[in-house]
Amino acid sequence: MKKINIVLFGVGNVGSALINQILEARSKILNSSQLEINIAVLVNSKIAFYNNNTINNSWEADFKTYGYPYKLSHILNHVKKEKLTNLIAVDATASEDFVKNYKELIRNGFHIVAANKTANTLSDKFYKELRIELKKHNKQFLYETNVGAGLPVIKTVQDLHLAGEEITKIRGIFSGSLSYIFNTFSNNNKSFSEVLEDARTRGLTEPDPRIDLSGKDVGRKLLILAREINILKELSEVRIESLVPNHLNGKSSISHFIENQQELNLNFEERRSKLKSDEVLRHIGELDVASGELEVKLVTEKRSSPFGSLQEADASFEIYTKSYGNRPIVIQGAGAGAAVTSRGVLSDLLKISEKLECI
Ligand SMILES: NC(=O)c1ccc[n+]([C@@H]2O[C@H](COP(=O)([O-])OP(=O)(O)OC[C@H]3O[C@@H](n4cnc5c(N)ncnc54)[C@H](OP(=O)(O)O)[C@@H]3O)[C@@H](O)[C@H]2O)c1
Repeated sequence: MKKINIVLFGVGNVGSALINQILEARSKILNSSQLEINIAVLVNSKIAFYNNNTINNSWEADFKTYGYPYKLSHILNHVKKEKLTNLIAVDATASEDFVKNYKELIRNGFHIVAANKTANTLSDKFYKELRIELKKHNKQFLYETNVGAGLPVIKTVQDLHLAGEEITKIRGIFSGSLSYIFNTFSNNNKSFSEVLEDARTRGLTEPDPRIDLSGKDVGRKLLILAREINILKELSEVRIESLVPNHLNGKSSISHFIENQQELNLNFEERRSKLKSDEVLRHIGELDVASGELEVKLVTEKRSSPFGSLQEADASFEIYTKSYGNRPIVIQGAGAGAAVTSRGVLSDLLKISEKLECI
């Protein structure tokens, strides 16, 4: 019998979905893998809830009622006092600040599973230092959900690279929201602002759609894949075509942007009018290994191509390698959403536990 003890940082969309999936799956996991999953502490940006019993369906109410302000040192002292082993910190925050705690967590016995992309997209120096710290303390760090949510993109790239396969190019529709926007926009005569508003009200974009349209999040995911295959770039070196015009950029309020989003129409409608009947617009990230170029851009694709035939908010990734020639490995499916992301986090937790000792 094995037991893992989780400290969950971030109880928002992904963190909450993870707790509920663990509650639902834990007896099955216990039976099939002889693994007990204990969520020892739940933490948001303000309070921590120390769970001394088995977590149950009342966790949300318990968190609100019994959670109290904390410092990281309190959590570290708690796990020591309780003699908890096989510790895993789950980062389900979107915080840049929180990532600064990773090294301390590792030094205090934690493995890390992250949905948060920040640790892999800060400087190359931080990236390398983190890996040195992990090695020094014999700890694992898994982050499959950083790219394509629950889709097995990072693992596939890592495995190919590890096996000596020469990856030549990666192209992907990395963003679910931009996938939905351009799948819809290319297929009807609606204005761009109408499509954008529809995506926003369905909750497919960030509350501020400029975060999606800026292309920065796609740039981060592209950088994460590049670093997996030893292309050591910084985020500032990714060429990103922002789809937000300067006068509507982040310096103005969200409401100002939403009130004026029809100003985006002319540009996109001009691009749509140039499409041939068998073509569509797609927002892609592309990594060319030979040139070392990382690019995020809006392109024209054949309607019949894998990217051109995408539906809804699906993500899709093409991995070109020497052995696979011009027929890439394609990984496709829902590339966002709390349920698929938390399932990916749970899968990372199980992978880490495979290498841990029985207690
Ligand atoms: N949703 C997806 O489809 C998806 C896919 C792949 C990856 N991800 C990544 O998953 C992460 C979580 O996404 P989400 O949608 O669940 O976000 P969210 O709903 O905004 O939740 C974020 C949680 O993190 C907490 N938090 C913020 N700063 C913290 C800190 N310094 N220490 C501890 N907790 C802190 C927040 O607490 P407060 O409420 O107190 O602020 C909140 O509970 C993000 O990094 C996101 O990019 C999401």
